[in-house]
Amino acid sequence: MKTIKVLGLCGSLRKASTNMGLLRYARAHAPEGMEVAIADLSEVPFFNQDLEKLEERPAAVTRLYNQLEEADALLLACPEYNYSMAPALKNVLDWASRAKDNRLLAGKPVAILGSGGGLGSARAQYHLRQTCVYLDLHPLNKPEIFAKAFGGGFDDKGNPTDESVQTLIRTLLDKLQDWTEMLSTPDE
Ligand SMILES: Cc1cc2nc3c(=O)[nH]c(=O)nc-3n(C[C@H](O)[C@H](O)[C@H](O)COP(=O)(O)O)c2cc1C
Repeated sequence: MKTIKVLGLCGSLRKASTNMGLLRYARAHAPEGMEVAIADLSEVPFFNQDLEKLEERPAAVTRLYNQLEEADALLLACPEYNYSMAPALKNVLDWASRAKDNRLLAGKPVAILGSGGGLGSARAQYHLRQTCVYLDLHPLNKPEIFAKAFGGGFDDKGNPTDESVQTLIRTLLDKLQDWTEMLSTPDE
């Protein structure tokens, strides 16, 4: 069976991001038959239709498009800013949605996880799920991962140290593997 390529996208750009820590944990613990890469979103400009009129797209956007093209599935790390998605994550989805016929996103399996304040970014994750509807992405329903960014569940580099969160991430990846295989199986 072919290796499933998963692209991780993180809505936080800060160095010690806990959301990026969740993605790093996923990358290090992907099951056999799955590879997780993490996109660098630090140079992706704010979406602006004027940039689409340039002869060449910004280099960071071209890199992102190539990575999205190669990805069989997406893993979205969703911080919560003011009860919604952080702009870096929404921005990347907005850019991706501009490819012809939504070819970078349509029909793609997605897994969502996140870390935040008291509700562990739950409110933002439900906004993200709403956006997935329009983009024709297919998010897994469960497990939901609402990690607490404050109170000791992460080390000072943003790596998750809580065993229950670590276990949930490994379960999420197993389910994403099944989900990706199911969605890519042609109808009988
Ligand atoms: C502008 C801003 C708004 C925030 N709003 C919320 C919020 O509405 N709910 C919440 O749970 N946390 C909120 N937080 C706290 C973030 O969840 C917390 O900083 C988290 O660690 C960010 O993810 P990161 O560690 O990946 O950077 C906010 C943080 C910032 C910077």
